[in-house]
Amino acid sequence: METVKIRLFPQGKVVEARRGSPLRDVLHQYGVEFPCGGKGTCGKCAVRILDGEVTTDPYHARRLQELKLDPEWRLACLSRCDSDLVVEVEQYETIIQADETPFEFKPGSGFGVAVDLGTTTLAAQLIDLKTGHILAVETGINPQAKFGGDLITRLEAALSNGPQEMTSLIRNRIWQMIAALCAGRTNKLEKTVIVGNTVMQHLFCASDIRPLSFYPFESEDLGIKTFNSMKLGWNISCTEISFYPSIGSFVGSDILAGIVATGMHSRESYSVLIDLGTNGEIVVGNQNRLLCASTAAGPAFEGARISMGMLATPGAIASISTLQNGTDCRVIGDAAPRGICGSGLIDAVAVLLEEGFLGDFGEILSGEQEVMISPPVTISQKDIQEFQLAKAALAAGLHILLKEHNLGVGDIKDVYIAGGFGTYINLESVIRTGMLLCPADKMHKLGNSALTGAKMLLFSDAKLTEDILDKTSHVNLEGDPDFQDIFIDNMGFYNSGIEC
Ligand code: FES
Repeated sequence: METVKIRLFPQGKVVEARRGSPLRDVLHQYGVEFPCGGKGTCGKCAVRILDGEVTTDPYHARRLQELKLDPEWRLACLSRCDSDLVVEVEQYETIIQADETPFEFKPGSGFGVAVDLGTTTLAAQLIDLKTGHILAVETGINPQAKFGGDLITRLEAALSNGPQEMTSLIRNRIWQMIAALCAGRTNKLEKTVIVGNTVMQHLFCASDIRPLSFYPFESEDLGIKTFNSMKLGWNISCTEISFYPSIGSFVGSDILAGIVATGMHSRESYSVLIDLGTNGEIVVGNQNRLLCASTAAGPAFEGARISMGMLATPGAIASISTLQNGTDCRVIGDAAPRGICGSGLIDAVAVLLEEGFLGDFGEILSGEQEVMISPPVTISQKDIQEFQLAKAALAAGLHILLKEHNLGVGDIKDVYIAGGFGTYINLESVIRTGMLLCPADKMHKLGNSALTGAKMLLFSDAKLTEDILDKTSHVNLEGDPDFQDIFIDNMGFYNSGIEC
């Protein structure tokens, strides 16, 4: 097999690749994002070729021209490793929340591994089941990301190419993480708990993903799946490896774990859990009954539909305090700004409203199509619209779940906000933009609640999961006759949002 060398700049890492193989197969491991799954439409996988030749076909050349990229740039998703290359990969160190939230537990024996299998990122911790101590942490990028950034693109790719490659990529990557966690330790691995959204569950477990791709989007295969290491091809002895059950077709075990992490299932008072991940999931309830739903609120906050949106990685504007007299903003990694992540987007909209750049309907009052945030990062009118759609979806979801519970908004005691950027989020901006009109002291920012919950599940028996599943129902928001009206009412910035 003829190989070429791909040197990554500035890391200096050299990777060998088969001549002619797709460049994205090399770069996806280093955090380069492929949000549109390689269709060449989003432009977010653009990289600079510092040395070597990457030829372009007419479609690739046209897209580069449309994106106004200089001649040395290429779209990694449309490029091949035809010669030795030096590629500038300055991004790309994803900050992945590994979570250190303390929790109560009943001591066991041996080791356990908790895994949060996210659409974008992966986090795993090795836990001493006797002391509850975190012994080691591994994080990484989901290797399936080269097939697309969001669940729909990922599903489309699995349907057209077959899901087998995605299944083996993710099983191998998690195995590598577990092997690294356990390296040099002789104690027995008793239990591995994996949580993730429904699509991740189906892909990891090699379940049939087709029912998730067409109406009514219902899979029969949502239950817990238990494996032995041999079946997964993992060279490690672990008594029990389980992918925890999903709650509904688009509410996965990451939300089940989030419920466990908040303890909302065991309290008399009512709580709300909002997870702004790739999907936007909401849970409302208490010890008697939990209702959950998924909304289309997630992708905007992960940058997927925002012109300069990106994950919370170095170069992302994560917070903004003013746009007057020069922007005051914080960029992750103290790097030059390259884009804006979810928390930055919420801040940007709040500041634009506060400082009179936006009208009540989200219109840019200057009449321009975009506002400069910090060069070269701009927010466009379309980005504001995406934000409004996401915020309205969230408000409608929450409103309907409260209605189903027959609750008034004042009945909610705690609101938990989880998600990839939960730590960076500014609660004042959440309130200012009308995403949630709760007093800030009712809102709690959660880190990676899925990982905390997975860790807690290592210490629990099946009864806890059964109890939560028994009291949890999935609500189809679009089926509610009020959905459209509430959604539209919450698009604007006047007196909107859910008050609690
Ligand atoms: S343009 Fe390459 S992934 Fe979208």
